[in-house]
Amino acid sequence: METTKFAIPEIIFGRGSLNYAGQCALRLGAKKVFLVSDTGIEEAGWVQRLMDILEEAGIDWIYYPRVTPNPRDFEVEQGAEFYLKNGADVIMALGGGSSMDTAKGIAIIASNGGKIQDYEGANRVQHPLPPMVFITTTAGSGSDISQFCIITDVKRGVKMSIITRTLVPNISIVDPLILRTKSETLIIQSAVDALAHAVEAYLSRIASPFTEPQSLKAIDLIMRNLQDAVETRSLDSLEKLSIASIAASTAFSNAGLGAEHALAHSLGGHFDMSHGVVHPIMLTTVMRFNLPSCTSKMADIGRVVLNKRLGSDLDTAVQGIEKLEAFFASFNVPLKLHQVVPAEDKKHLEPICKMAVHDACNLTNPRPASWEEFLVICEEAW
Ligand SMILES: [Fe+2]
Repeated sequence: METTKFAIPEIIFGRGSLNYAGQCALRLGAKKVFLVSDTGIEEAGWVQRLMDILEEAGIDWIYYPRVTPNPRDFEVEQGAEFYLKNGADVIMALGGGSSMDTAKGIAIIASNGGKIQDYEGANRVQHPLPPMVFITTTAGSGSDISQFCIITDVKRGVKMSIITRTLVPNISIVDPLILRTKSETLIIQSAVDALAHAVEAYLSRIASPFTEPQSLKAIDLIMRNLQDAVETRSLDSLEKLSIASIAASTAFSNAGLGAEHALAHSLGGHFDMSHGVVHPIMLTTVMRFNLPSCTSKMADIGRVVLNKRLGSDLDTAVQGIEKLEAFFASFNVPLKLHQVVPAEDKKHLEPICKMAVHDACNLTNPRPASWEEFLVICEEAW
């Protein structure tokens, strides 16, 4: 086996684990926390709850509320200015992928200077970041676990992947109780994102024995619990989705992703589309494209999805993909690109594919893919 590396944050998991946020910040030497969140989380009462917890621990805080969905380059640069002006010493994000990626972007600029574009790609952040404590409010993005940060480059209309080990936060707090205030749409979008992470990490060219079991566990948990989580909001199901998200994030953070995420970043950046909308549309089409390069591993996924093995790897893999399609169709989500992209914008697919082929996620796709092949995938998903 080739040399491999594996990085994850300290994870504090469980119902009510939010209460440990103050202690976590203290352990990292916090005197003044830079707290990043958004209005939705604020309205649900979680920001005030966290401020109370910090106050009880005797920690001062400064609140940065200006997080938007699909965080943009200029927003993290403004945030870094605000951070430096206020002399905080620990960055804490409370929210989904947008809040956590905004916090990571702020941390990069505040400690390394320059523009966020300077850090696009793998391993381009040179100086250490401020300590980070992340509290996820969704079960999917994985930004609380991963070495990934996704920021939209407004000028190019693309979501940049910034990947480096220093982006793994020091501590990730995962409290399933927080998921109860999430909408049905958000629960589905987050879970299918985690599912896409698990599938792509499993098939990645650099998957390892440390990431593969995590991928398969995540796929299994999401297939068996998402429907119930959406219908009943039972804490048991939400907790299982949280575990699935951690497993999937652990896998993709260390194994990378693939062509589907490369396309999702370019489509999402160009059309300002929610990340979770893309996966039910693109994932199985990309899996079919990758199938000839990794039939046996695709059959492993099929065995988990189908909960049985068929006569041949190819049969198991193909039926697994079909089962995933039926799974996506069982939710009220778009399944084709034309449902989310206006017909007159179809002409943009070519530049989008040319952009996607250079996304860092494409490097670990099991089958090398050209922009022309990406375009065929988009046509099939149209
Ligand atoms: Fe994702």
